[in-house]
Amino acid sequence: MVVVFLGPPGVGKGTQGAMLAEALDWDRLATGDLLREARRRGTELGRQAEEYMDAGELVPDSLIVAMVRERLEAMPARRGVLFDGFPRTLPQAEALDEVLPEVDRKVDAVVLLEAPDEVLHKRISGRRHSPESGRVYNIYFDPPEQEGICDEAGTPLVHREDDHPDTVTRRLEVYRELTEPLVDFYDASPAPVLRIDGNQEMDEVQASIRQALDEALDLGAKRE
Ligand code: AP5
Repeated sequence: MVVVFLGPPGVGKGTQGAMLAEALDWDRLATGDLLREARRRGTELGRQAEEYMDAGELVPDSLIVAMVRERLEAMPARRGVLFDGFPRTLPQAEALDEVLPEVDRKVDAVVLLEAPDEVLHKRISGRRHSPESGRVYNIYFDPPEQEGICDEAGTPLVHREDDHPDTVTRRLEVYRELTEPLVDFYDASPAPVLRIDGNQEMDEVQASIRQALDEALDLGAKRE
């Protein structure tokens, strides 16, 4: 099984993707997380991606596709894969359609999370994350037990460089211009596009995703 999560910045792709991957014991391939990890480790890819990310622009397709291909080839074929933040442009979606058959897979469904822009801005302004544990919090909706400190790692939480208001506005523009056209691309493909209201409590969003996927792909039966 391969499921693609689509949606604007801050809608909850990472939050929901992590919950679903854990529940189903799937691999989750989140290109934003991989790029932030590359930056933290100071790799060549991290250095190349830095400037684009901090400006709210997309990292060039060639770098992203090479990174995804490498990860995908290393994944065990028996597990499901959830893509979060990839593909994000038409060339990336076309590249994915070329790469997946090489590892005996195809896109089985697309989860499209939606929420109004004011909700996205509020969520992003409250987001904090732990570079050490990778856990994401929200000072308004999902705070840590001790202010500013990760419950798991016990180290300070940080605000993402690209979460400042001007950059968020640019990221939303880039989403509308380059990523939203993928909805039409997948609507015209055999993979069902499952439209989910992301403006609900986290558990409710997860339940909506599970129900839609179960109906579209009969996941319950496939797990047994
Ligand atoms: P990336 O990291 O993928 O960022 P994004 O797509 O902009 O998405 P976000 O991480 O901002 O949001 P999310 O939808 O995951 O929301 P989250 O669950 O955290 O990409 C960053 C950058 O990397 C890009 O701008 C680009 O430069 C580069 N990049 C990455 N992939 C690329 C690609 N394929 N091609 C080219 N460049 C690429 O939730 C947000 C907050 O809200 C959290 O605090 C969370 O706790 C809270 N929250 C979530 N759900 C709820 C809820 N239901 N109720 C209340 N709060 C909630």
